[in-house]
Amino acid sequence: MKTLKASGVGKAIDRVEGHLKVTGMAKYASEFPIENKVYAQAINSTIAKGEITSIDTSEAEKLKGVLKVITYKNAEKLKTFDKERPAIATDTIAPVLQDNKIHYYGEYVGLVVAETFEIAQHAARLVKYTYKKFSDPAIRFDELKSKAYKPNDKSDYSRGDVDKGLAEADISIDSVYTTPIEHHHPMELHAIIASWENGKVTAYASQQMVEDATIAISDTFQIPQENVRVIASYVGGGFGSKLNVERHAILGVMASKMIGSPVQITVTRNQMFTNTGLRQFNEQRMKIGAKNDGTLTALAHETISHTSTNMEFQEQCGMVTKMLYKVPNNKVTHRLIPMNLQTPFAMRAPGEATGSFALESVIDEMAWKLKMDPIEFRIKNDTQTDLSKDQPFSSRLLVECLRIGAEKFGWENRKQEPRTNTNGNWLIGYGVSAASRNSPYQKTHSKVILDAENGKVQATIQMDATDIGTGSYTIIAQTASEYLGIPVENINVELGDSDFPVTPGSGGSWGAASYCNGARAACEIAVSELKKKQNIAEEEEVSIAELLKKNNLTNYEAKGMAEPSEEFKKHSVFSFGANFSEVWVDKDTGMWKIKRMVNVGSAGRILNPKTAYGQIIGGLTMGAGMAIAEQTRVEPNFGNFITRSFADYHVPVNLDLANIDVIFLPEEDKIANKMGIKGIGELGITSVAGSIANAIFNATGKRMRDLPITPEKLIDAPLEEGVTA
Ligand code: MOS
Repeated sequence: MKTLKASGVGKAIDRVEGHLKVTGMAKYASEFPIENKVYAQAINSTIAKGEITSIDTSEAEKLKGVLKVITYKNAEKLKTFDKERPAIATDTIAPVLQDNKIHYYGEYVGLVVAETFEIAQHAARLVKYTYKKFSDPAIRFDELKSKAYKPNDKSDYSRGDVDKGLAEADISIDSVYTTPIEHHHPMELHAIIASWENGKVTAYASQQMVEDATIAISDTFQIPQENVRVIASYVGGGFGSKLNVERHAILGVMASKMIGSPVQITVTRNQMFTNTGLRQFNEQRMKIGAKNDGTLTALAHETISHTSTNMEFQEQCGMVTKMLYKVPNNKVTHRLIPMNLQTPFAMRAPGEATGSFALESVIDEMAWKLKMDPIEFRIKNDTQTDLSKDQPFSSRLLVECLRIGAEKFGWENRKQEPRTNTNGNWLIGYGVSAASRNSPYQKTHSKVILDAENGKVQATIQMDATDIGTGSYTIIAQTASEYLGIPVENINVELGDSDFPVTPGSGGSWGAASYCNGARAACEIAVSELKKKQNIAEEEEVSIAELLKKNNLTNYEAKGMAEPSEEFKKHSVFSFGANFSEVWVDKDTGMWKIKRMVNVGSAGRILNPKTAYGQIIGGLTMGAGMAIAEQTRVEPNFGNFITRSFADYHVPVNLDLANIDVIFLPEEDKIANKMGIKGIGELGITSVAGSIANAIFNATGKRMRDLPITPEKLIDAPLEEGVTA
């Protein structure tokens, strides 16, 4: 097959769906031209905790074009939670408008359905609510710490004895790091067009996982799962916020059921602060001990976060601390405070992004105290065994990432003493951090349809996988091209429909490995079945066109499935990386510039360097956002968010970021899966904030433990002990 014009895996080809996107032909949820669709606008509560005492819908109902006003008084009965504060998952039910209780500011309290979007928006403002406001909303994190609870048995982990390890240490550090609430804010607004007909519903919805969305919708409405079809052909970013079904989706389905027409709901950017998830506030206390020669003796990571009062979510900040370094005494704990804010949920690299900021900062603090180079300190404590599971890593090239990155970055020009590398008023700092991200791989089904005409074979791959902007269409086409031995131009990839074979959907950096191995399996089965029918040996190279011809077929279909092997389960499968940053800080104003970043990743076989590069620069940008800009502020009396638009929720722009170099180490991890692929999506954000904070320390001698690192915080921060001004 090598002689054929295959443009298989590993080539930096353009996106196969790129032209559809730039010509507006790629359909996102709210763009489907569904006949007779009407529009709905949700209404948000204006208190954080209490009860609705009365609702006046009369003025809205009088408005021409208004079809229905839905509140808890006339809403469909849905399945509700059978326990207090259940844990949120990707397939959790999402009951809405079931009673008059308010749990957080902005909670949905009604929905107006109208003939046009404009009428719906206008009418939503005419519905009047009166509330009984409870006097004790939980919205001040610092005052609630005594209420922190342990969510479950998996919240804590330990090995050895941390107190003993700290006692044995020559140097120990005890530091607290805080990270603020952040919002995902994908470019495409959350949206649904729901069409209920005869007990069945079709939902065009912006979701990362269509299978789980069918479960959540069917469970909420108590109808069979096969009566729910979810279509998410294109998703304009998710970052975790579209993993689960949010309540606008349930409102859309409910409204369609109640009025008998398809209903479209597009969540506004403003509503995306209060209704589509967030990354919660975290307070992380790190304790670390080491011998004078740099040997780690103890490491503890204690996290307090908030959840909502009605649901439970725990970001696993301590995950990285369990497995990244060779430390015999290790302890990780997670505690939660229920607050009157919407339920937090997974945001890009939940756990690693925030946890690695604390871990990689405290590692840098220790290296400074030991007067050791922070790269050498990390390498000294490297491990090829995952001590938290007592099993080997399938592959771990962290040391190589650090060494190669150091060379590429020019680490030898770094000054160990802060404030000694200057240029005029600028203090120049170099920072490094190590990254690791679990690289899961999950059971994935797919179907291949082959069509031959005049000796030319066209293949269609179908699976319910989603492309959340990451390049799924392209890498699946490249995979099929490789395993069928036909050019990418002859492959048609169809995704994002729950009628297609089931995949795990896009999340947790498992998409590429799962989708491509699933597609591979279907292609391999097609080839092997066609050979078997003609008694052709497996190893004989026959083109797919020839195989169809020998079988007298012009059309053939095969289904395939891929899942983790026994070997996979015996190993810890992680991607690794190293981040390097050069930051300049103005010594009088605290203004910074991120001059350049270098990222080295070891993430198995790179399917397409172009889409992989896009993933990493996206991650680095989000990591830089964490470090210098992003934060959602809670108004401490009312529980509303002060930041409610991109005018005040800041994200980095090109001017903030300057030069980025991305290097992928050549690697294939055959334990991870047959194609040697590991996850890459979340690796890019992991530990970036740490490398920037460490560069700021190296520049200024100030240890910034509270994100984001704004100029005003930086100018006020004290010098660390031992730093010469
Ligand atoms: Mo990701 S936070 O699993 O989309």
